[in-house]
Amino acid sequence: MKNDPELNSSELVRDIGDRVTAIISDCLESRITQSITDPTGVADLRTLFEEPLPREGTDHKELLDIFTSSIVPHTLVSTSPGYLGLMNPTPATMSIFADALTSALNQNQAASHHSPVGSVIEEVVIRWLGEATGYVADCFGHLTSGGTVANMTGLKLALHRAAPEVRDHGLAAAGRRFTVYASDQLHFSIERSVDMLGLGRAALRLVPTHSDATVDIGIMKSMMEEDRRDGLEPFAIVGIAGATASGAVDPLPELADLANENGIWFHVDAAYGGAAGLSREYPGILTGIERADSVTVDAHKWFFVPFVAGGILFRDQSFAEDTFQNVAGYIPDSEAAERPPTDYLKQGLAGTRRFNALKVWMAFKHLGADWYTQVVDRQLTLARNVADAIQQMPGWQIAVPPATAIVTFRYEPEELRAAIEEGGEQAETALMERDRFQEQIAAAVQQDGRHWISAAPVPGGFALRLNVISFLTDEEVIDSFLSELPRYAAAAISGT
Ligand SMILES: Cc1ncc(COP(=O)(O)O)c(C=O)c1O
Repeated sequence: MKNDPELNSSELVRDIGDRVTAIISDCLESRITQSITDPTGVADLRTLFEEPLPREGTDHKELLDIFTSSIVPHTLVSTSPGYLGLMNPTPATMSIFADALTSALNQNQAASHHSPVGSVIEEVVIRWLGEATGYVADCFGHLTSGGTVANMTGLKLALHRAAPEVRDHGLAAAGRRFTVYASDQLHFSIERSVDMLGLGRAALRLVPTHSDATVDIGIMKSMMEEDRRDGLEPFAIVGIAGATASGAVDPLPELADLANENGIWFHVDAAYGGAAGLSREYPGILTGIERADSVTVDAHKWFFVPFVAGGILFRDQSFAEDTFQNVAGYIPDSEAAERPPTDYLKQGLAGTRRFNALKVWMAFKHLGADWYTQVVDRQLTLARNVADAIQQMPGWQIAVPPATAIVTFRYEPEELRAAIEEGGEQAETALMERDRFQEQIAAAVQQDGRHWISAAPVPGGFALRLNVISFLTDEEVIDSFLSELPRYAAAAISGT
């Protein structure tokens, strides 16, 4: 057992650091070729780790050996260039180490008194995210645990605009029934937020989408009118800038107009799509975002920052402080004479907050915005190349054309297509079979381990979903995936 000062001895710190650095380096190198999925079952994983609370400590060398032998091999290698999956990026190298530096300093970024420089850096990082997305460069906001909390924060701001009395007296005091409008392609966090705000999930009006997965504004408009006639009170519109399943981007300018006409809050969920604002080859993907009242953008998605680093951006800091107003006499106020750094506990949900801004700051500083532009452009091009190639493959079709770096497509052999076109009961059965095919193909890809894609519901049914989310993914990876695809499909469908 080590005595306490020994825990901080430079000998121990350096030995742990050197070993950890070697492990990280090995991981980053080997994970490029390693199988993405690991077949070990949950029962075996439990057997590996189940033990009573250890009374005795373990030597750090042994502990790190356990990490490399028993933990690393059983992780999902979402950092692989072949991982074409969910919103899990390959992390920027500098940010991996920034996470350790953050922990070493252990700043509590709730009150700036305890994180003077960290709070200033967070202000800067928020403005950079505002500029990168094309929102506004002089915005305010803060980092969150993720897009889920960021979306909830955006909707809380919206509700505070509509009914400030709710903060102190609850919804009953407002005596009004509020509604919020979003595409049926929304992320579940919007639904959860409406529930957590006490509005009830029925307050969320899911608006149907076109075949390109963008929201139907005409229907949204009539739903709002009808709700008003029924005595309900629309208080926010959510536009999606990069839908989770398809990557679709809603027509943000039209949504901004509609919010404006109704005098209500406009929140944009760019949790995933935010980095598209940096594209030079595909300009204008996020046009309209600059008219939002608040924006969700996650640095831990398309900005390649390791988890967690979500973000909420907004225009009015004092309005946010009024929304989350806090009196906490036991936390000292900043002593700065003028314009003190932001006290983040005053403008959001969290209390204790990590100095996560450091890894975002280091990623931007180390790589530069031009690097991001180049990578995002390459990823957008790769997604379009996939779509072009799929279109040439007999029996395959694009489900939703790529607006961002996500492509959705389906395997639809001739007999199925004919049955679907015929309509009636036969078509229904064929559609179900088509959905099942996509899920089976995704499972076959995942099991093979060289690539990872998913199946997701998009307009028209389930589709395969390929997301170019790693900065390591290149043409070679995409070509190898496309050349294997017919084999994956055949294996999935024949059950071999
Ligand atoms: C569009 C969108 N919004 C919000 C979220 C939620 O983000 P998080 O998982 O970081 O809470 C996601 C996650 O994938 C998303 O795709």
